[in-house]
Amino acid sequence: MAVKKSVGLAALLIGFMVITGGCGKPKKETPVTGGIILGFSQIGAESAWRRCNSQSIQEAAAAAGIQLLFSNAEQKQENQIKAIRSFIAYQVDVIAFVPIVADGWDNVLQEAKDAGIPVLVTDRKIDIEDENLYAGFIGTDSVSEGRSAAEFLVKKFEDRLTSQDKPIRIVELSGTTGSSPARGRAQGFREIIDQYPQFQIIYSESGDFLRSKGYELMRSVLKELQDIDVIFSHNDGMTLGVLDAIKEKNINPGTDIVIVTIDAEQAAIDALIRGEVNCVIECNPKTGPAIMQLAQKLAGGDTIDRFIHVEEAVFSEGDDLSSIPPRGY
Ligand code: AHR
Repeated sequence: MAVKKSVGLAALLIGFMVITGGCGKPKKETPVTGGIILGFSQIGAESAWRRCNSQSIQEAAAAAGIQLLFSNAEQKQENQIKAIRSFIAYQVDVIAFVPIVADGWDNVLQEAKDAGIPVLVTDRKIDIEDENLYAGFIGTDSVSEGRSAAEFLVKKFEDRLTSQDKPIRIVELSGTTGSSPARGRAQGFREIIDQYPQFQIIYSESGDFLRSKGYELMRSVLKELQDIDVIFSHNDGMTLGVLDAIKEKNINPGTDIVIVTIDAEQAAIDALIRGEVNCVIECNPKTGPAIMQLAQKLAGGDTIDRFIHVEEAVFSEGDDLSSIPPRGY
């Protein structure tokens, strides 16, 4: 059996950031001190939410004394697979990753299993034939987030749901195609919306969780479609782009069009307070400390719960919004 290489050398050879101290400040070439080594594949830095998620992981690893090999996949699944293979080659104690999309992980996770390295899936879920190829999942419950978004609309449009008035026309901007939050949020939303024939989803397109795409999509939607009652956006980044596009057309967001968004970044909460957004569903990115506890358990040979969902809140117009603490992202 090969000897575990020093983390410093591994970083040098395969280009990971080794995080050993401070808030998100990488230190390279730190010798192994006998602690746990965690290989973490992050998908990128597409949103303020994601940057906070990475920071939470890096800070929590430093606080727990866990040596973190942190890899940024720049939004490419192939880069994640390469990173996981490198973690296996260097015999890290635990692998954790955020799967950019749900499918396509069977082979590489079989390789990790064969190497005896436990794998923790976080933030986004995977669809896999053999569930035993990973130890467990920690992250948000996207289906429930989608349901919360729809439940807000049911209350908001209560009067129109019972009348034979014109339909309530919904535009949906979804997240990255094939990702579990895009699938889950769409699924949960429809579970509720489909119970009310007055609701009609007149347009649904992926904006890839990006502000720039939210802006572009909304500009073209506004050219083609009229009488939009609702925009359901799968994340705040896209929502901020949507707000820019709507304001350019002198439409009042939050009044002329009801806007429901997911993440609860500070910018979205501020927009809610200004009345430009009507409901914000929290998606909690601060999972670093819980991930480190799970990594410690797994490194010690323990099993963990199959699915751990973190707590999330819903912030709506009409709530007392003055007491929301700064979001930090
Ligand atoms: O996977 C979680 C989603 O990914 C967040 O809602 C979004 O902002 C991020 O990019």
